[in-house]
Amino acid sequence: MQNRQINPKQGLIPFSILVVGISSLLFLYLYLGKEPTVEIHGFRKEVAEIFGMAGFCALALIYGRSILKLILNEGTFLQRIIPDDHYDRSLSASRKLLAFLNRTHKHVGATAIVIMATHALLMGPARWNPFLISVLCLLAWQGIFGIFLVVRFPINTLKKHGRMAHAQLYTGVMIGVFAAFGHLLV
Ligand code: HEM
Ligand code: HEM
Repeated sequence: MQNRQINPKQGLIPFSILVVGISSLLFLYLYLGKEPTVEIHGFRKEVAEIFGMAGFCALALIYGRSILKLILNEGTFLQRIIPDDHYDRSLSASRKLLAFLNRTHKHVGATAIVIMATHALLMGPARWNPFLISVLCLLAWQGIFGIFLVVRFPINTLKKHGRMAHAQLYTGVMIGVFAAFGHLLV
């Protein structure tokens, strides 16, 4: 049996508190020194916003899958939120949904990256700030290591470390927190 080497939940709460704390300080610093940014209007803005919403949905699917994985591993938690007589049916429906999300993850992940890059480019590099640039870098990180996981490489360690770099939730926390502060700063 293959043992999971890292517990995806381990240390996630202290890490989130730390990221929010440091980001708040950086936000204050950047906000106080902020200069007016160029605005974009009309059709381009609308398309950019649609891409922003679509990217949000793709990321919600990606991390919704992670949450579903965690919930299904803890059957008792699911039992607590679903009444007993519905439990079996809900469990099999959730398993089917998870299987679908697992099958499509690569495509949803790659689509998310393309959508977010397009969103950022349409909004224009002149409006990017360090938070948003970090979000782009984190998405690129996820994409590069995601590819390592699916492309067959001769070096096995690349695959092993690729999984550690990719299949974790720390980048997810950073993407969420940095995107929130980044948009507040625009
Ligand atoms: C987690 C990833 C992201 C999501 C879900 C997201 C989503 C959105 C949404 C829904 C909007 C429209 C909101 C509004 O008009 O108030 C928006 C605006 C914007 N986004 Fe993003 N975005 C993400 C990442 C990025 C990145 C990486 C950049 C740039 C590098 C960026 C740059 C902008 C800019 C400049 C605006 C315009 C804000 C304004 O006019 O007030 N976004 N984003
Ligand atoms: C080129 C695109 C991508 C490919 C090929 C890819 C591939 C993979 C593979 C093979 C796994 C391990 C098996 C599995 O859990 O299904 C995985 C897990 C994971 N991926 Fe991706 N991925 C991609 C993009 C992304 C993106 C953009 C994100 C987030 C922004 C992401 C987040 C995750 C997470 C959080 C896991 C762990 C799921 C969990 O166990 O909770 N992936 N990915």
